[in-house]
Amino acid sequence: MIPGARLIILGRQGAGKGTQCVRLSRHYVVPHISTGDMLRAAVREGTELGLAAQKIMDKGGLVGDDIMVGLVDERLQRLDAASRGYILDGFPRTVEQAKSLDGITTDRPIHVVIDLDVPREVVVARISARRVCRDCGTNYTATGREKQPWICEVCGGDVMQRDDDTPDAVHRRLDLYEEQTAPLIQFYGDDGRLVVVDGTQTTDQVFGALTEVIERSRR
Ligand code: AP5
Ligand code: MG
Repeated sequence: MIPGARLIILGRQGAGKGTQCVRLSRHYVVPHISTGDMLRAAVREGTELGLAAQKIMDKGGLVGDDIMVGLVDERLQRLDAASRGYILDGFPRTVEQAKSLDGITTDRPIHVVIDLDVPREVVVARISARRVCRDCGTNYTATGREKQPWICEVCGGDVMQRDDDTPDAVHRRLDLYEEQTAPLIQFYGDDGRLVVVDGTQTTDQVFGALTEVIERSRR
């Protein structure tokens, strides 16, 4: 990838956005900007934003557009994102956020938006089995045969289930995706920035498809 590429990865909760963005960010050495990770860090640090966001996130709701746009705007101005480009994971999530993002990136517009397409039944199964390292964010899939306590192979942190991965919160998040986030597919499709990638393939196949799209978009 040519340095300076700016990407958005869209997709349902559990589509594999985080999994692929971690890998893409290592492969291309560009920052992975995950608004979910930023909010979870604020929750862990107990900041004012974290305290407010935790209640919303645990129920599977969406944090307000103004707060999210402010957070992302600040993050995109940091030197690494300004010089190396970035991969956005979990932002934008509403048409309002997408319009604001266009407003704050007029000087350096987004190159490509990828929709990682995975049907609802598949993501529900994936999320139920997901376990995440609380410290470094590495994802694992539970088989029920893991040793307890479960220690992260990458950093030695505690591997846990996310607080919003309860069945009620998962269904609420997926309903909100259909209402608020799915319209982005048309928003970015209309102006030709969208490419759809089949996210039901193996993680290696999805990674291969993503890198192909990214390289093509930068030729
Ligand atoms: P966020 O952290 O962004 O969560 P999400 O959108 O709900 O997405 P997930 O992280 O659940 O899914 P993912 O696509 O990253 O899948 P993953 O790679 O983990 O947001 C959390 C909350 O923060 C929101 O609900 C909201 O409250 C708030 N928030 C964040 N951004 C916001 C915004 N912009 N505006 C307002 N509020 C915001 O993969 C899932 C599982 O599948 C893993 O176990 C993985 O190992 C497995 N897997 C991945 N790929 C494959 C594959 N190819 N085959 C088989 N299994 C796979
Ligand atoms: Mg994620």
